[in-house]
Amino acid sequence: MNNSRDKIEKMKVCVVGLGKAGLPLASVIADSGIEVIGFDISKQRVQEINNKINPIPEEPELAELIEKHAGKNLIATNDVEDLRDCDAFIVIVPLFIDKNHQPDFSILQSAFSTVSSVMKENALIVLETTVPPGTTDTKVTEWLDFSEKKYYLAYSPERIMTGYSVSRYREFPKVVGGVTKEAGKKAYELYSQFCKEVQKVTDSKTAELIKVAEGVYRDSNIAIANELFKVSEELGVNFNEVREFANHKFCHIHKPGNVGGHCICVYPWFLINDYEVPVIKTARLQNDKMIEYYANQLKVQSGKILVIGLTYREGVKELAYTRSIPMLKLLEERGYEVYAYDEMFTGDEIAELGFKPSRNFEEMHGIILMNNVLSLKEDLMPFKEKVVDVKGALE
Ligand SMILES: NC(=O)c1ccc[n+]([C@@H]2O[C@H](COP(=O)([O-])OP(=O)(O)OC[C@H]3O[C@@H](n4cnc5c(N)ncnc54)[C@H](O)[C@@H]3O)[C@@H](O)[C@H]2O)c1
Repeated sequence: MNNSRDKIEKMKVCVVGLGKAGLPLASVIADSGIEVIGFDISKQRVQEINNKINPIPEEPELAELIEKHAGKNLIATNDVEDLRDCDAFIVIVPLFIDKNHQPDFSILQSAFSTVSSVMKENALIVLETTVPPGTTDTKVTEWLDFSEKKYYLAYSPERIMTGYSVSRYREFPKVVGGVTKEAGKKAYELYSQFCKEVQKVTDSKTAELIKVAEGVYRDSNIAIANELFKVSEELGVNFNEVREFANHKFCHIHKPGNVGGHCICVYPWFLINDYEVPVIKTARLQNDKMIEYYANQLKVQSGKILVIGLTYREGVKELAYTRSIPMLKLLEERGYEVYAYDEMFTGDEIAELGFKPSRNFEEMHGIILMNNVLSLKEDLMPFKEKVVDVKGALE
């Protein structure tokens, strides 16, 4: 054990993509004593890291890790030539879906063509981005085969959450699965250096489906919670009480609401696109329709409506797949005069998104409170009657 640890500690690891997922990972690896080169196409991101500036301030512990390791164990670069002596590459760049819900692999392909252009013989390559199951041993293999070198390829899903991206490596098991047994073993050894618990599964496809399954479970669970919530409303029953007492060791009903953000609303499409999964598809479509349900709760058919909370979650300045933008558009389609407010965005930023900023609660005919913005609770209480309180923030 000690021998293999010594051997791995001398490894040089490249993390490709230093975004909200990749930079915490690179910092945690550097903190374990491994030498890390972070590669990103963004010049600004690379400069910030090398100047010890934390570009993701909402991530606890990250600033300290960057301060401690930048310029030493953690060096960021835009230059592919700096990657030639790396023993392992971990790729963690985004994969978006288009308007037809089809995954767009272009960023991933570009990241892997970088890797294949510089990797040395017998390098270990691990993909962390969430992908449709089967991507690693088909598409990624094809992209890497261009190198005409021997390599070990594995998949390990990132399972971070904004705000917990550093602590997750201590607290959450890390799943790894190799395209071959040997690759799985090598990935297991690498991740064991900096993760509290590593779980090696049969192969990369299994590891890929584990991550997608997690998102699908949560999406379908929320769809059930949404239906039970609507039934509770019709019955005049408090759904929170129903949920509290229904949940036990074998029952885990989630909270009802909209589903936004990077993960849960994207990954079900990886299965819906290619498999017969009517339950998963219905859940996905119904969750997207929740904005209509909340818009229908407005007590007026016309007038000024303010949508509060633009981000997909309170406290995180991130608009990825937020339901607030579709909500604003839906209200516009219904003929309302629409305004937007989010304390994390300036008026100019809101205007750039194409909406009128306002914080004048009094002059509004209706307000849709999308997020649990506790700081506004006191100011909003006098207007409670006209607020559609999506997350029960005023309760
Ligand atoms: N942010 C989250 O909360 C979160 C949560 C769960 C999962 N994820 C996962 O992490 C993946 C990455 O998302 P993120 O949030 O880190 O994205 P991000 O947009 O924060 O960062 C992506 C980074 O990759 C860089 N990049 C783009 N193309 C590149 C290339 N060809 N080579 C090198 N760098 C490149 C960008 O410049 C950027 O810095 C997602 O697809 C998802 O699987 C993220």
